[in-house]
Amino acid sequence: MLLLPLAFLSALRGGDSVEVQEHVLFHVIQISSFANRSWVQNLGSGWLGELQTHGWDSAQGTIIFLHSWSRGNFSNQQLTNLELLFRFYFSGITQEIQEYSSQLQFEYPFILQADVGCELYSGATLKSFFQVAYQGSDFLSLQNMSWVPAPEGENKARRICDTINQYDGIKETVHKLIRSICPQFTWGLLDAGKKYFQRQERPEAWLSSRSIYGSSLLLLVCHVSGFYPKSIWVMWMRGEQEQLNTQQGDILPNADGTWYLHVTLDVEARDAVGLACWVRHSSLGGQDLILPWGHHPSMKLILLAVLLALMLPIALALWFKKHWRRQWLSLENPALSL
Ligand SMILES: *[C@@H]1O[C@H](CO)[C@@H](O)[C@H](O)[C@H]1NC(C)=O
Ligand SMILES: *[C@@H]1O[C@H](CO)[C@@H](O)[C@H](O)[C@H]1NC(C)=O
Ligand SMILES: *[C@@H]1O[C@H](CO)[C@@H](O)[C@H](O)[C@H]1NC(C)=O
Repeated sequence: MLLLPLAFLSALRGGDSVEVQEHVLFHVIQISSFANRSWVQNLGSGWLGELQTHGWDSAQGTIIFLHSWSRGNFSNQQLTNLELLFRFYFSGITQEIQEYSSQLQFEYPFILQADVGCELYSGATLKSFFQVAYQGSDFLSLQNMSWVPAPEGENKARRICDTINQYDGIKETVHKLIRSICPQFTWGLLDAGKKYFQRQERPEAWLSSRSIYGSSLLLLVCHVSGFYPKSIWVMWMRGEQEQLNTQQGDILPNADGTWYLHVTLDVEARDAVGLACWVRHSSLGGQDLILPWGHHPSMKLILLAVLLALMLPIALALWFKKHWRRQWLSLENPALSL
């Protein structure tokens, strides 16, 4: 699939000029929920691979730039023009659909989704797309300057395509948007976001466990969080031996753009000693993070506390004994205390 970090690494090798050897996808997603004749909600967002870069403020009709580099290399004038185009599109399409919903045979409540964007590869535009779904199924798309109904869209989609195919202006605008503006914007975005994609964030890791009900097994969990880029290796090990029944969860996004992963291991409770979780990540400079099971910092603290608790009375007793003895001696024989 579209692995942006990889794309970026190869983009960076080309020095200052952006030369991408992997797939890069930029797309805008629209989700319009029509509850009834008088209530519509439009959500819009822009995505570079799996990273959200833009939002849409539907009350103000403005683009939300989620990162300092989300403007790419476009001028304010260019961005304002795009904003106007989106505003016009959202209000136009909403009005038309509300007005003609019964002729279009859309039944309330319904959801329309559009996925619009471009895919770049090795310095060229691989493909551009504008596809629409109705109630979660493919409905229609733009192919080679004409709107084509999806088989799932049936007559409904065919009739709509027949109608909108008559408007050359719309086709030309959409074509320009996805064939030329989208790639230009995306190259600029990749360039402007270079620092962001190049950053290295170190993972934090911690262990937890729970017993598996009704068995003598223990589930060991190694949590790894806060790392960037996404690619990482985490494994339960015994010595240098990979534990092949280690189970890896999905890599999940944190709110700050870093990633989270946990890997688990089922193990007989008595065999847990000697296991360790190993984490390998580009931010660690070749040094694996190793977390041995059963050697928590908290365990060390508890031991220390116990030791202190045991030793304090002894120390006090010794001190009192010495002091008391000295006083007692000085009473017996004042000369000795001098
Ligand atoms: C339309 O839908 C909205 C949201 O569900 C609801 O609050 C509103 O009462 C509905 N209006 C009508 C006229 O049914
Ligand atoms: C689009 O048009 C080009 C040239 O006109 C043609 O070669 C290509 O097969 C068409 N693609 C589709 C999907 O219709
Ligand atoms: C932004 O950068 C891309 C790639 O470097 C270039 O093709 C495009 O013309 C630039 N756009 C502007 C407005 O400078």
